[in-house]
Amino acid sequence: MPTRVLVTRRVAGSILARLDTSFDLDLHDSEEPLARDELLERASQAAGVLTMVSDRVDAELLDAAGGLRVVANYAVGFDNIDVPAATERGVVVSNTPDVLSQATAELTLSLILSLARRVTEGDRVLRTGTPWLWSPTWMIGAGLAGRTLGIVGLGRIGKEVARIAEAFDMEVIYTNRSGPAADVRYESVGLDELLARADVVSLHCPLTSETHHLIGAAELASMKADAILVNTARGPVVDEAALVHAVRDRQIGGAALDVFEREPELHPGLIELENVVLTPHLGSGTFETREAMGELCYQALTAVLVEGRCPPNALNPEVMA
Ligand code: DGY
Repeated sequence: MPTRVLVTRRVAGSILARLDTSFDLDLHDSEEPLARDELLERASQAAGVLTMVSDRVDAELLDAAGGLRVVANYAVGFDNIDVPAATERGVVVSNTPDVLSQATAELTLSLILSLARRVTEGDRVLRTGTPWLWSPTWMIGAGLAGRTLGIVGLGRIGKEVARIAEAFDMEVIYTNRSGPAADVRYESVGLDELLARADVVSLHCPLTSETHHLIGAAELASMKADAILVNTARGPVVDEAALVHAVRDRQIGGAALDVFEREPELHPGLIELENVVLTPHLGSGTFETREAMGELCYQALTAVLVEGRCPPNALNPEVMA
């Protein structure tokens, strides 16, 4: 009997056809997530699951899915997965590193530019039919050259953001959980110093218990009054309610967010603020990137279920040691 693989959402590119050839494919062919009950039920029949960031893979799911051998997460972030619980149960977990770094960095720079140069605000002026006429003092934004970009988490995506920002003549400083990185020439500083010096604070750290609400009221208060905060990492890294207050009270210059604390919900205060740019979790959203993410998931499923080997992007390779 072919091995069953559950794919929890419609995915872009050619991998579905190949999964269908290699496995007994159970595809949730929808843009909507599976309801929890249905996810548990369908996972219980599967040896492999291709999951999305919105699918919670915890002890409950892993216990319901006794025959599960591999979870291929269609994302680089894996805060939706209890990896130690999977390891305990002998389930390999993989993610999709590297292939989405450039796409996410491009989106980060487009958010910075949109906010600094008031692109979305200007677009709203025109769409709402607001009377306007070019004037030397109207809708002045901030250029990027000579400004300081503070990167929180200089991993693969953070480094890519830094590389592109250099082309805009920005000065890059960073803070890293693991201390100074050996392979970069940017200045490594502590979070306090970064918040005090940066004109743009861009978040690229994973969501963990240590980074939950890493940026709250106190951190926002310590930023420059015209600095902007950019989050393309994970929503709960920022205390959204505190951010709304900080932007509303002009403690900081604005915020650009691609991720939110309770996706797909937004804090209602965010929508009312002119100096906030919002996008719906589009970081990895280019066709080539999504295809490459699918390819890594396909490879992980095939490695474990067909070839009996550990995929290179396993988060818990000890399961197959
Ligand atoms: C990731 O890969 O972690 C993204 O957030 C999903 O696009």
